Amino acid sequence: MEIRRLQRADVEGVVALQRACFPPPFPEELLWKREHIERHLDIFPEGQFVAVLEDQVIGSATALIISEENYKAHHDWQTTVGGHFLECHDPNGTTLYGVDISVHPDYRGIGVGRQLYEARLHLVRERQLRRYATACRIPDFSTWWDMHHRIEEVTDALNAYCREVVAGTANDRTLTPLLRYGLKFVSVIENHMEDEESANAAALLEWKP
Ligand SMILES: CC(C)(COP(=O)(O)OP(=O)(O)OC[C@H]1O[C@@H](n2cnc3c(N)ncnc32)[C@H](O)[C@@H]1OP(=O)(O)O)[C@@H](O)C(=O)NCCC(=O)NCCS
Repeated sequence: MEIRRLQRADVEGVVALQRACFPPPFPEELLWKREHIERHLDIFPEGQFVAVLEDQVIGSATALIISEENYKAHHDWQTTVGGHFLECHDPNGTTLYGVDISVHPDYRGIGVGRQLYEARLHLVRERQLRRYATACRIPDFSTWWDMHHRIEEVTDALNAYCREVVAGTANDRTLTPLLRYGLKFVSVIENHMEDEESANAAALLEWKP
């Protein structure tokens, strides 16, 4: 398996991978289409990574650089990254911002995600950026809240859930792996993007070199 920069010939593979990795109820309109990925390659090729096994794309990771001001505002997904074409990419910014990471379901749990993250964190050091950050999905939140319905307010429930995942007393299929990569939990961002399983929220995570 090879981790390398995304190339134009990989684009179809990434489109197919997205479908395998973000099944319903995740909204289909949020997935990358060919024209989006091609634009990412135009604006910031160094930030786009793939994991390739026998000419097949089995993992991918999309990122852009955002300004300090943009990062500190902790806006929703659309405002922070500038939509599917990553219009907020700022080559003079301070923060490498991860937009997505996906590993094909047949190849999970064997360190592909970790290697994609190593490539990202290496880029932070190489470009002498201030930090890496991402707003991470918390797709096991809804199930957890069903079992902890005595917590009435969604804000309280989201914070309690993230605290438990950080402590290791609850497991989230997305947040848990990202914490294992050394990312630190910062806060919950509510109304981050349409994502039913995560109650439209995300966990803001960061890593500093
Ligand atoms: C999140 C994701 C990228 C992780 O990739 P992966 O290659 O399976 O993860 P890794 O093999 O690198 O695992 C990293 C660590 O997390 C742990 N882990 C992996 N999946 C886990 C799970 N479902 N629950 C708990 N821990 C898990 C591993 O045991 C490993 O721990 P260790 O390093 O301490 O041994 C992958 O599950 C995925 O594509 N999910 C769907 C798409 C998605 O939601 N992406 C993120 C939001 S954009």
